[in-house]
Amino acid sequence: MSKSLNLFAPAIGITALGLGLAYGLSSRDYGAQTIESLQARVAQTEDSVARATAEAQAATEQAAQLAAERDAVLAVAAEATSASVDLTTPAADIDGSYGLGRAALPEELAAWDVDVLPDGRGLPEGRGDVFTGEELFVEKCASCHGDFAEGVGNWPVLAGGFDTLANEDPVKTVGSYWPHLSTAWDYINRSMPFGEAGTLTSDETYAIVAYIMYSNDMVDDDFELSHENFTDVEMYNSDGFVIDDRAELEYDQWRREPCMENCKDSVEITMRATFLDVTPEGSGETVMDHASTDGSPVSTASDDIATTDGTESGDLDPALVAAGEGAFRQCKTCHQVGEGASNRTGPVLNGMVGRTIGSVEGFRYSDVFQAANAAGDVWTPENLAAFLADPRGMMAGTKMSFRGVREEADIAALIAYLQVFED
Ligand code: HEC
Ligand code: HEC
Repeated sequence: MSKSLNLFAPAIGITALGLGLAYGLSSRDYGAQTIESLQARVAQTEDSVARATAEAQAATEQAAQLAAERDAVLAVAAEATSASVDLTTPAADIDGSYGLGRAALPEELAAWDVDVLPDGRGLPEGRGDVFTGEELFVEKCASCHGDFAEGVGNWPVLAGGFDTLANEDPVKTVGSYWPHLSTAWDYINRSMPFGEAGTLTSDETYAIVAYIMYSNDMVDDDFELSHENFTDVEMYNSDGFVIDDRAELEYDQWRREPCMENCKDSVEITMRATFLDVTPEGSGETVMDHASTDGSPVSTASDDIATTDGTESGDLDPALVAAGEGAFRQCKTCHQVGEGASNRTGPVLNGMVGRTIGSVEGFRYSDVFQAANAAGDVWTPENLAAFLADPRGMMAGTKMSFRGVREEADIAALIAYLQVFED
């Protein structure tokens, strides 16, 4: 406070000076008007001094408050530094916030808070019938999931697959596998159509779920699903999941006397997941339909094939073939290989090495491919490598709209992989 008084001492001095001047002037017999106006000015000056003093007081109080806050922050910081701090220690929590961002608005929370639970909590009011659902499904979902939810190509199947769960290749669908209908409602509402998530209304979601139920023979075609009858629905596999109670029932048995005898000398990786094709894509027979159990990667396909240049494709390096299968993912959108493969955007690529360019039956090639075909040009590992590295560079005007494979190693792998597939 003393500081602010010091600050205002000059102001008070000026007032005093003003008053003195006023009296001096009046004693010299100036007109009454002049005196009045001077008195008015003195009053004004006194006013503004009072105002300035109040402002100064407020400023001083604010400064004191800021200083106190600063001291608090410094104290927290000092405490944090003095405590044993390593890189994993959370940052000091100053005043319960980090001073970043803002609190989410209720509307924003509501937009994210869309989860629907098995007991129906979270379901918005609404309804939709099978018939409406079918129309919506055909319009918004069938391009990937098929008109009857049977799945197109490799897109997920949503219907059928009952009693396949114990098979080697179970077909897990909303009907055969999902234990709660709420999962379907929530998932579709939250994430479908793929790439256009969040565009469905509640009624549309009810209708689509009703149609998926119909596709799974769960309801008749006149069924309407709503928030009212939602929890009455019985799911086929609702009893197929159990609570994981191993921690209570089994762990202590396992941990009693771990066997540490007769261990293997060394542990090696004997197979690659891509080679095993554990996540099959496409219908064509893949390299590892017959994985060996003795640890050596065996491909019936590569064993059986003599490539057209006369070498046994058994000579192919399995690791290279496996890498080729991985690299071939980028080709799969357009090409199929193996038994039962069909022409897609691009031709079937069976028996490519040694084959006349542009000679796959039933495929409509570009002019440049037709010209190469007419000239009797043949695919060799060399020109195939050049083509894959830069399709348009080697075959100007080709219909293969693909930028090319950058890595030489990938090209070699791809060519090895393609040689696995007989014509
Ligand atoms: C452009 C293709 C595409 C469209 C259109 C599409 N989906 Fe999907 N859908 C997918 C893909 C891809 C997945 C798998 C996503 C994943 O596993 O992350 C999927 C998964 C699903 C699943 C879960 C399947 C499972 O068993 O895990 C359901 C249910 C589903 N979609 C329903 C729908 C519905 C209903 C529509 C229309 C409103 C729709 N989808 C539109 C591509 C599509
Ligand atoms: C976007 C679709 C697309 C992709 C991706 C694609 N291709 Fe092609 N490919 C084509 C088309 C279309 C042709 C026919 C070219 C023409 O007629 O000009 C073709 C032709 C070929 C041919 C010659 C076939 C013949 O009968 O002579 C080979 C070999 C080939 N592609 C290999 C590959 C490989 C390997 C990849 C992946 C690295 C790949 N392609 C990626 C569309 C594609």
